Amino acid sequence: MPVVVVGNPKPKSRTRAAAALIAEKLGGRPPEAVIDVVDLGAGLLGWGDPEVARAKATVLAADFLVVASPTFKGTYTGLLKLFLDQFGAGELGQKTTFAVMLGGAPTHALAPELTLRPVLVEIGASCPAPSLYLLDSEYDTSADLDTWLELARPYVPEAR
Ligand SMILES: Cc1cc2nc3c(=O)[nH]c(=O)nc-3n(C[C@H](O)[C@H](O)[C@H](O)COP(=O)(O)O)c2cc1C
Repeated sequence: MPVVVVGNPKPKSRTRAAAALIAEKLGGRPPEAVIDVVDLGAGLLGWGDPEVARAKATVLAADFLVVASPTFKGTYTGLLKLFLDQFGAGELGQKTTFAVMLGGAPTHALAPELTLRPVLVEIGASCPAPSLYLLDSEYDTSADLDTWLELARPYVPEAR
């Protein structure tokens, strides 16, 4: 079962829609869960919050992850970092993970590969495909998306 993690302070965002679309196109069915990190609220500011623990358990049970963020100031959001900081080093146990970022301009196209991917790898993600950057204005129509899906699809693990 694919699980989507979205770190956007704006709920129900294009970033969320893009990540859910990608998970569905890769997994062949809608994601089992979409964790809109903003819904976890102040529980992210400490350790041991039960809702955060439930979200972590959902992530840890996934067959594969799509982790998505809008680009803020050339990098992924602080909100997403608050959630990723809740995981210990290596805790994801080499879970297959696809890193995705949306941006308003092409300037920061390397941001997912250079900023988000290293953090995911630190907490134990296996990121076999290149990280994906999409312009927010064309996230669902971009030819880049189709090209990337072809690259990424062979790395999708069998559903358990
Ligand atoms: C605080 C802030 C900082 C931003 N910084 C960048 C940036 O550095 N590079 C960029 O391409 N877009 C930047 N943007 C635009 C967002 O990345 C873009 O609007 C976002 O991908 C839209 O996704 P959404 O509709 O899911 O919120 C910024 C937007 C905000 C609100």
